[in-house]
Amino acid sequence: MPSKPNFQVPSAEPNGTRTLHRWPILTGANYRKVIACISSGELSGSGLEVINEFEKTVENWIGGGHVVSTNSGTTALMVALLTLGVGPEDVVLVPSYTWSATAFAATLIGAIPRFVDIDSDTYNLSTEAVAKAITPDVKAIIVVHMHGLSCEMDEITAIAREKGVPIIEDCAQAHGALYKKQYVGTLSDIGCFSMQKSKHFSAGDGGFLVTRNAALAQKARDICNFGLPTPKHNYHFEEGLREGYAVFRECEQIGGMFRLNPLSAALVIDQLEHLDQRIEWLQEAMKPLVAEAAQVPFLKITQPGSHQTHVWHKIRVGIDYGAVDHYGRSMADIRQGLRNTLARSGIPSTLWTAPILPLQKVFRPYAGTIDWTKTAGHLAIENSFIVFDEKYPLIAQDPSTMTAVVSKLRQVWSDYFASLE
Ligand SMILES: Cc1ncc(COP(=O)(O)O)c(C=O)c1O
Repeated sequence: MPSKPNFQVPSAEPNGTRTLHRWPILTGANYRKVIACISSGELSGSGLEVINEFEKTVENWIGGGHVVSTNSGTTALMVALLTLGVGPEDVVLVPSYTWSATAFAATLIGAIPRFVDIDSDTYNLSTEAVAKAITPDVKAIIVVHMHGLSCEMDEITAIAREKGVPIIEDCAQAHGALYKKQYVGTLSDIGCFSMQKSKHFSAGDGGFLVTRNAALAQKARDICNFGLPTPKHNYHFEEGLREGYAVFRECEQIGGMFRLNPLSAALVIDQLEHLDQRIEWLQEAMKPLVAEAAQVPFLKITQPGSHQTHVWHKIRVGIDYGAVDHYGRSMADIRQGLRNTLARSGIPSTLWTAPILPLQKVFRPYAGTIDWTKTAGHLAIENSFIVFDEKYPLIAQDPSTMTAVVSKLRQVWSDYFASLE
């Protein structure tokens, strides 16, 4: 390891009068850990020290349970389904609005996603729609805490328990979000997280799952390691060879190479230390916009309940349909005009994964007989969009910049609607 590494931390770039930070914010500690990992020569395998350290760190942060690291959030979801015994032709309930990976986790193992409508205010699974969709052929439910807000877990859990159906939480966008004072990911049979670069906890790519059930954790760990029996600690391939190849090398179940890259673990471990603080800044900055949304013309923004915290991984802003009648213009026209105006003021936006999944080509065979263009989910996505930039997300900025940017959004939004009068 070089005694004085010359770190170039690529995190800040000027933008007008402010310096915007890129995400993730990397410090010398992150670089040093990556270099130490390279120097250790332990760049692949199971039970590596840096992987154990990563899993232990996440276990401490999330408040118990067993953490099994994976090489992506998609993998974590797929491994979770396999761990719960879901297989070909089994039906898995999946929200109609989520990133494709939630549904792909099912299709990749031959299971059948059944799409369930969402709530148009929270963009989360509609509890009533879950109750209707949960027939005897359903073998698992994947709830997605969309954009950083927990689903209504008590209600959904009650429905699932009654039918004996396990729940997987997709927490890819909700690291650090609380539901009744508990972190999401710990509210179900298995919680799955992504550490892709845009996520609040970012390894570039990577993921992990968490479960309170030691047997499920062991099964997931084995699946991630080619279906081999895999102790968490001190399993070294070479020692396995010395101690008895056959014992270690007999695959006992389906599996694959789903383990986290140790370099990614090294990059991300120390970032967890700052996560809750950054989320708090973000929540502070969002507070006035959320509290005063009713005073901003035609603005719809998710209002977290008193039992939840929103971690604002993505900030989806909606336009009230009242604007269509009020201005005699189409929603598409108003939305595009607003997005253009925001862009001219330095606030980028994206439609992000529209249309909803059952209307996307690859998922149409699973869409069933429902007219998805008439559903609450479709309408909610058609009248909304996501603000700010993945490369320079709000969470990466200083608290004063967070506040200023949110306040600017409000101002430009109000000015746009005033200009239509
Ligand atoms: C809701 C949701 N689920 C799953 C994933 C998949 O995670 P990954 O990209 O790490 O595979 C993502 C994001 O990428 C996501 O946003």
